[in-house]
Amino acid sequence: MKILVTGGAGYIGSHVIRALESAGHKAIALDDMSSGVSLRLGETELVQLDLADSQAASKLEKILVEKAVDGVIHLAARKSVAESVARPEYYYRQNVDSVINLLEAMKNAGLSKLVFSSSAATYGSPDVSRVDEDYICQPINPYGETKLIGEWLISAASKAWKLDAVALRYFNVAGAGFPELADTSVANLIPIALNAISENKPVQVFGTDWPTPDGSCIRDYIHVSDLADAHVAALNYLNQDDRPYQIFNVGTGTGSSVLEVLAAIKIVVGKDFAVELTDRRPGDPAALTADVSRIGKILGWQAKYDLHDICESAYRASLSQ
Ligand SMILES: NC(=O)c1ccc[n+]([C@@H]2O[C@H](COP(=O)([O-])OP(=O)(O)OC[C@H]3O[C@@H](n4cnc5c(N)ncnc54)[C@H](O)[C@@H]3O)[C@@H](O)[C@H]2O)c1
Repeated sequence: MKILVTGGAGYIGSHVIRALESAGHKAIALDDMSSGVSLRLGETELVQLDLADSQAASKLEKILVEKAVDGVIHLAARKSVAESVARPEYYYRQNVDSVINLLEAMKNAGLSKLVFSSSAATYGSPDVSRVDEDYICQPINPYGETKLIGEWLISAASKAWKLDAVALRYFNVAGAGFPELADTSVANLIPIALNAISENKPVQVFGTDWPTPDGSCIRDYIHVSDLADAHVAALNYLNQDDRPYQIFNVGTGTGSSVLEVLAAIKIVVGKDFAVELTDRRPGDPAALTADVSRIGKILGWQAKYDLHDICESAYRASLSQ
C-alpha cells in the first residue's frame, strides 16, 4: 500500500515510516517542518504542507489523488502539554483543524483508511492505575482535549461515510530504533534526564510523596519501535473486511516509577548523577499504566522491548546527536 504519513519528519512519524517500509509498504511523508527534521527521512518523499492551514483540505485532496495514496497515518500535531495550557487557541487550531482538513480531503478523494495518533492524555487523571479503552476520558489540559476531539471527529466520520479508522492511544513513548531518528525535543523524562546528565545538571523528580511504592509517579514507557510496529498492525486490521472503528491503548502494560527509570538510566550511562527532589507538578496523575488486552487480542500486537532497551537506545542515540 501507499501510505501518507503526516508528521513523517517527526520523532515517531519517522519510525513509523521505517516500519512501513520494512513491511513492504511505500510511505510518503507530509510535514510542515515546524519541528520535523529532514535528515530523518533519507530517501522518503516529503510533501511540505501545514495541515492546519485554511487551504489545506483542497491542497491535500489533490495530493492524495495525484499520488494515488491508499491510506493515511496521521501523526502531525503539536504535543507540548505546557504550551497547550498557555496557548489553547493555537492548540485547538493546530490539532483539531488539522483533523477536520484531513477528513475533508480524504472524503473528497475517496480515501477510507486512517490510523490516528491519539494519546493517554485523553484519560486525564484516572483514579485507577491501569486504564482500559472504555474508561471515561476526562482530559485535564487542552492538548488532551484536542486529541479526544480528534477521536470524536474520526468516530463520527466512520459512521457518516464509512471511514475505516483506528485511534492509537500512545502512552509514554521513548527510545530510538535508529540513532538518527532520536527524540530531540527534550520534553519527556528520559530525554530530559539524559540531557541534564550530559550537562552535569541535576535531574528533577517532581514529587516523592505520591501514593506509589517509592513515592514517585508511575508511567508506562513504550519503545518507539514497538509503537511503530503497532501502526503496521493497525493497517493490517483496516485491510480486512468490515472492521469497526476501534481505539487501542499502546503501552507495555507495565508501570515504571520515575525513580526506577532513573535507576535504569544510571546502569546504561554507567555513572552516578545528581537528582533533585522537588514538589509535585499540578495535573500529574500518580500512576498511569495501559491495559493492553484489547490490542493484544484484536491486533495480535505486544511490546517486545523493556525499560532497559528503551533507556539504552535513547542513550546511544543521544551520543550521536
Ligand atoms: N512523544 C510522545 O510521547 C507522544 C505521546 C502520545 C501521543 N503523541 C503524538 O504522536 C504524534 C507525533 O509525536 P512526536 O513525538 O513524533 O512529535 P514531533 O514533534 O517529533 O512530530 C510531529 C511532526 O508533525 C509536524 N507537524 C506539526 N504540526 C503540523 C501541521 N499543522 N501540519 C503538518 N505537519 C505538522 C512537525 O513538524 C513534526 O515533524 C503527535 O500527534 C503527538 O501528539 C506523542
